[in-house]
Amino acid sequence: MHVVTIGTGYVGINTAAALAYIGHSVWGVDVDAHKIEMLKSRKAPISEAGLDALLRLPLDLSFTTDLAECIQSADVIFIAVGTPSLPNGEANLAYVMSAAEDIGRTLKPDHDVTVVVKSTVPVGVNEMLERKIRMCVTADGGNDAYLHFASNPEFLREGTALLDTFYPDRFVIGTKDDIAYAMLYALFEPIIRQTFEMPDFIDAPSKRPETQCLRTDQISAEMIKYASNVFLALKISYANEIAGLAEKLGGNMADISRGMGMDKRIAPYFLQSGLGWGGSCFPKDSLALLSMAKDYDYEMPIVQAAVDVNERQKTRLVHKVLEKLYTLAGKRIALFGLTFKPKTDDVRNSPAVDIACELMRRGAVVVAHDPEGLALARVIYRDLGIVFCDDPELAAQDADALIIATEWPFYRSVDWAKIRTFMRTPFLFDARNLLRDQKELVSGFEYCGL
Ligand SMILES: NC(=O)c1ccc[n+]([C@@H]2O[C@H](COP(=O)([O-])OP(=O)(O)OC[C@H]3O[C@@H](n4cnc5c(N)ncnc54)[C@H](O)[C@@H]3O)[C@@H](O)[C@H]2O)c1
Repeated sequence: MHVVTIGTGYVGINTAAALAYIGHSVWGVDVDAHKIEMLKSRKAPISEAGLDALLRLPLDLSFTTDLAECIQSADVIFIAVGTPSLPNGEANLAYVMSAAEDIGRTLKPDHDVTVVVKSTVPVGVNEMLERKIRMCVTADGGNDAYLHFASNPEFLREGTALLDTFYPDRFVIGTKDDIAYAMLYALFEPIIRQTFEMPDFIDAPSKRPETQCLRTDQISAEMIKYASNVFLALKISYANEIAGLAEKLGGNMADISRGMGMDKRIAPYFLQSGLGWGGSCFPKDSLALLSMAKDYDYEMPIVQAAVDVNERQKTRLVHKVLEKLYTLAGKRIALFGLTFKPKTDDVRNSPAVDIACELMRRGAVVVAHDPEGLALARVIYRDLGIVFCDDPELAAQDADALIIATEWPFYRSVDWAKIRTFMRTPFLFDARNLLRDQKELVSGFEYCGL
């Protein structure tokens, strides 16, 4: 099939490359000319395991900034552009609207095509985008009878995006249109039925998953995405709330998480306590869900509490630092980790960056290291005043305290004894509890978990 993905960010590029790998002819379109230039020379614009290797394969995969160059041959068009938060918490729909307008303006009359929204959008937005595209197509006397629409929310995780794309738990296809459903099912069939040849550029699971395919209406599909993401965020906040109480009562949170996770109904995932959730999805999706509910005067106290607990984790960490250093004015803090989680270069909405800002607001100098995230952080956060440092040992030079803000396995293998010698005082705040079970590595430090 001929496929176009509009947006070549974390979702768009992984979807495009995986679809090309299973035999489709794919175009990736983006307004970011720099990204498209990189992709044309087969370089991944993001850090994602296996993506560079996949892009180097001789796939039928092309890139452009001009939708008109590829839209006329498309059987399926994915909208995979961003939906970040507006200051009031609502999802910013400017990018999906602009993608819909581009589609509506460039489609030729009578084009038989299925338009699929992969972006995470609030309830009703699929319908709104469909209306927009139909309006544009019919404005010049075009026939919209051959247009089909579906919602197909994406569940990949940054850091394991390709793994999740090739071996997903489920596909959710929200549409009342049988043709749209049949097109999407056929497009993803090798993945749904797990019949494709397993790629060697990612670590395959020991057993192929039994991928389920759920057909729903569009509204339910839109809600499944938000309800799933916010449930995971909530699970982390619950673990953090329990961890706070465990600290007061003398319980061991590592054991508590382990013990809870042994129950199949609970499962061990998303029960690790620490600095809390961040990134480009959980924060914006929880705020968007609250904002949707507010429009209907419907309170969601559980979701609100998850957000509040997540914010409180940052305050808890700052207070712990203050308990040791008394004041932050003039103090130098080494920050290990800037990405919102390991195995990605994504520093958007990272709790590590929030912590850096709060420490600096209180007068500290923050010197930050990250194994993957420095390049993006230097661009996105160039004006914040964080000192970025490529060498963890240099970052720790003269530090009054060191904070591990992202659980990069890399920080298990640094020379902690040497780092200790560079620091002014040996306070180590392990805000991700990365070394909780290996405290012998940091025996020269005064260790404090979260
Ligand atoms: N990142 C994730 O882990 C993840 C997972 C599941 C779902 N999602 C959802 O998928 C959507 C995309 O997320 P992302 O992380 O890939 O975003 P991203 O910011 O990484 O990428 C979005 C891309 O769209 C491009 N773009 C914006 N407007 C465009 C237009 N009119 N035409 C062409 N390109 C345009 C941008 O230049 C950018 O490259 C969001 O709604 C997000 O919530 C993200």
